[in-house]
Amino acid sequence: MKKINSFAEYKDWYQKSVEHPQDFWADIAETFTWKKKWDSVLDWDFKGPNVKWFDGAELNITENCIDRHLAEKGDQTAIIWEANDPDTEHKKVTYKELSVQVNKTANALKSLGVKKGDRVCIYMPMSLELSYTVLACARIGAIHSVVFAGFSAKSLADRINDATCELLVTADGFTRGSKYIDLKAIADEALKSCTCTKNVLVLKHSGKSVNWQEGRDVWYGDIVDKQSDVCPAETMRAEDELFILYTSGSTGKPKGVVHTTAGYMVYAEYSFRNVFQYNQGDMYWCTADIGWITGHSYIIYGPLLAGTTTIMFEGTPTFPDAGRFWQIVEKYKVNIFYTAPTAIRALQAKGLEWVEKYDLSSLRVLGSVGEPINEEAWQWYHTNIGKGKCALVDTWWQTETGGIMISPLAGLTKEKPTFATYPLPGIQPMLVDADGNEIKGNGVEGNLCVKFPWPSMIRTTWGDHERCKQVYFSTYENKYFTGDGCKRDEDGMYRITGRVDDVINVSGHRIGTAEVEDAINSNDAVVESAVVGYPHDIKGQGIYAYIIADRKIDNLEAFAAEIRSSVTSEIGALAKPDKIQVVQGLPKTRSGKIMRRILRKVAEGVTDQLGDTSTLLDPTVVDNIVQTKDLVN
Ligand code: WT7
Repeated sequence: MKKINSFAEYKDWYQKSVEHPQDFWADIAETFTWKKKWDSVLDWDFKGPNVKWFDGAELNITENCIDRHLAEKGDQTAIIWEANDPDTEHKKVTYKELSVQVNKTANALKSLGVKKGDRVCIYMPMSLELSYTVLACARIGAIHSVVFAGFSAKSLADRINDATCELLVTADGFTRGSKYIDLKAIADEALKSCTCTKNVLVLKHSGKSVNWQEGRDVWYGDIVDKQSDVCPAETMRAEDELFILYTSGSTGKPKGVVHTTAGYMVYAEYSFRNVFQYNQGDMYWCTADIGWITGHSYIIYGPLLAGTTTIMFEGTPTFPDAGRFWQIVEKYKVNIFYTAPTAIRALQAKGLEWVEKYDLSSLRVLGSVGEPINEEAWQWYHTNIGKGKCALVDTWWQTETGGIMISPLAGLTKEKPTFATYPLPGIQPMLVDADGNEIKGNGVEGNLCVKFPWPSMIRTTWGDHERCKQVYFSTYENKYFTGDGCKRDEDGMYRITGRVDDVINVSGHRIGTAEVEDAINSNDAVVESAVVGYPHDIKGQGIYAYIIADRKIDNLEAFAAEIRSSVTSEIGALAKPDKIQVVQGLPKTRSGKIMRRILRKVAEGVTDQLGDTSTLLDPTVVDNIVQTKDLVN
């Protein structure tokens, strides 16, 4: 695949992508392995929405991730696995070995009755077998639904049931940082409320003993090892579903974002190569978890499509100490490093001694993703990790966009801290006002939309196309609405300012306030609750919960612990409120709507500019909230 080599070339590509989008994408798609070429590059309307890329084409994405590299790169390392514990030996697999393992795993799935179109839920630690399983699904045309291994039994069950998954692939357990997670036990608990799942494939990862359900549970190694290493790649149509990935929104129930085969593939490699300016032989490391879209697109699919060596890390930035990331960079001479602002801020807080111990001179490109990167973190990353010499790409995108949308191209685009800068060729962002009118010109601010389709865009929300239409294509007519606020500066550069809906971005993870409220309300003592985000030094945003209880709370600490445990078991520890305040009432309008604006201000600690409270049903509740603000756990 050709790559953009200068900013002048970027401008040419961009212009072509807008003027002749079909030719533009056909040229890029040309470089892949197709079983059959497309009849038409793009058919679309955003009313449906109904978007088809490369319609009529047939392919299998794993032939593009693996088979086509075997002749020239068979012996090159495809994936390096680095364990949580630095004393555990790392593992490396070449493209040839990856092929063997993916084919065997694919045959194992088939032997369990999994067929094209079936859904497979994957709830696994960051292990090589997780990658094999994802690719094995794609090999046989099963739709993978990866659920982040930090989610609770209830969240897992909801996701398994929503997609009626035939098979669950999990592991005995794993240690992340210093915490052991008993994955199989959580999976067992979830499956009590899932009737669709016939088998559970269990990877022996930690070696700890687990409960076993004869007839249902199968050891991964037992079944995979005895399979043939040849599994013909299923012929997939361009718009056949590749995967489902759940994400939170404004309502209580997470949505299953659906990505399809050809468009996702084309955009994953295209964006990977151009944003990171990948060169053959580069050592690449993305620190995300495969449970999120970043891991799907930029640990597995994008890098493997480009024939990269991609590192998979099981651990955390601060275990056993705050030097862990930099030790890994030194160990593998990483050239391209992609992480999240929350990790940067956490490491910044630990001091430079952890950075200075290691040789980071191999680094050429640094990336950031998941939330707005504040100026201080940007400068620290640039100066202390990049030594002022590395390109720094602040990449804006979403689960729904499938790949990076707005970002500098490493080393080509002039950078500006806190700005994601310019859209990739093929991406047409626009800012709109509250009524959906386009805000033209520069030096403006509005809600971020996209006005033209791109290959890796969301196609539907699993089982509920109407919801996809309502959430993304109805707020503003004939546009995709991102849910983000955005500024465009005098140079036409974009700066994403954060969510404009009821979604909190905690450490780069999207959490819907309604989901957290539902979880809190599941506690017996809770009458009602309201959750808002507030600025948090490390996490970007923290979760602040206002709770009305049905009894007098004498021991706030014990009560808060109970609430946090409710949220942990309903959603997962990632959604635990950072702050809990018991209140007498919530500020509501006469129509019963909670005025979150006021709650956000109080959570931020700004209590003298609460704005107009006269439209509230009972303005005195605000006084009560402000007065009891010091009673927060
Ligand atoms: C939301 C998407 C994209 C992969 C990880 C998160 C926020 C993401 C940036 C950025 C400012 C960003 C947005 C977006 N976001 N990247 N570079 N600058 N904000 O995926 O869970 O689907 O969340 O993350 O608010 O809408 P996600």
